[in-house]
Amino acid sequence: MSADAWVVVANVDDVPEGEARRVEIGGRGIALYNVAGEVFATDDTCTHMRARLSDGYLEGHVIECPLHFGRFDVRTGAPLSAPCTVAVRPHQVLVEAGTIKVRLAH
Ligand code: FES
Repeated sequence: MSADAWVVVANVDDVPEGEARRVEIGGRGIALYNVAGEVFATDDTCTHMRARLSDGYLEGHVIECPLHFGRFDVRTGAPLSAPCTVAVRPHQVLVEAGTIKVRLAH
């Protein structure tokens, strides 16, 4: 699979507004976030100690890790609070004809 390919990962209905869902692309965990109808994607693995961000709590554009409650901006992957200091990788998202497509960042 080309790293530049758009991959259909879910239907829009699979990710309710205000929630996060995990999908996998080639065995790599990706978290999808529905923020007021707009979908964002990042790697699912927290950069602190590898918890799944998709199991966390989404509030606005902020995902809170379920393990130590570090937070990231789902738009950029930027860490927002301790203990997270390293950004989580964001990915491009395209919503088309009721499906969510993701293009992995390098
Ligand atoms: S594993 Fe995510 S904050 Fe520690």
